[in-house]
Amino acid sequence: MANTKKPLGIDIANAKSLFDFLKDYLPIDTPWTSFTHPATKEKYTIELQNSSNLTRDELTTCFSLVEESSKGDYSASKQGWKPAAKRREMRLLELKYLLVRSTKPRDGEETGKPGDIEAFVSFMPTIEDDQEVLYVYEIHLAPSLRRSGLGRRLMGVVESVARRIGVEKVMLTCFTRNKVAKGFYEGIGYGKDEFSPLPRVLRDGREVEEAYVILSKRVGGVE
Ligand SMILES: CC(C)(COP(=O)(O)OP(=O)(O)OC[C@H]1O[C@@H](n2cnc3c(N)ncnc32)[C@H](O)[C@@H]1OP(=O)(O)O)[C@@H](O)C(=O)NCCC(=O)NCCS
Repeated sequence: MANTKKPLGIDIANAKSLFDFLKDYLPIDTPWTSFTHPATKEKYTIELQNSSNLTRDELTTCFSLVEESSKGDYSASKQGWKPAAKRREMRLLELKYLLVRSTKPRDGEETGKPGDIEAFVSFMPTIEDDQEVLYVYEIHLAPSLRRSGLGRRLMGVVESVARRIGVEKVMLTCFTRNKVAKGFYEGIGYGKDEFSPLPRVLRDGREVEEAYVILSKRVGGVE
């Protein structure tokens, strides 16, 4: 008997070549491949990559951005800071990266090489709690790029990809103690997901928040 089960949107998305993923899911009507810092007027490029295409140096730069902004939060949590595990996670096969590079030549020299990575967001079409979602693994900007509107812009691109793949929501994990990130996500429409862990209730009745919260935003259906 023929298998009539409809293929999952996330499986279709994950099976695509980088070229087809870009063509089929990245925004067509809104330009997303460049960014100008509104205060410094510096220009940046944005590109899509597969985790497997990142060079060792590029992965190290992305890892350093994570370490710089989140090592403290990991260290304060039960799981602790595990650099080797984080590096392995950052190489997961189905992870996609939006890499933001400076257009300034390195060391003031015209080398023709791409500029340094100064921000990135990584995401994966996946199943979470029986639902197809786009999971944002990391978003990290160098300090000079924070509060520039770039975070909002990158998340907007990710949400547009989610809509075009046809998943219901974009989901992510945020450390409860990272108040800036929590404020950022709430500011762009994310709320506590129904599957976020509930606070632990101590014997004396006091509630202790978990170290992390799962946030999500409905993006609903195909664009
Ligand atoms: C969190 C982060 C990605 C946000 O990106 P960003 O470019 O700085 O944020 P934006 O400028 O796009 O801000 C969008 C909205 O988020 C909120 N927001 C962002 N930063 C904020 C801050 N420091 N304090 C209060 N609200 C903030 C505001 O509502 C803001 O809208 P507004 O500028 O119109 O007021 C960035 O600050 C960052 O990389 N931080 C370090 C890494 C990190 O913590 N990553 C998250 C791991 S879960």
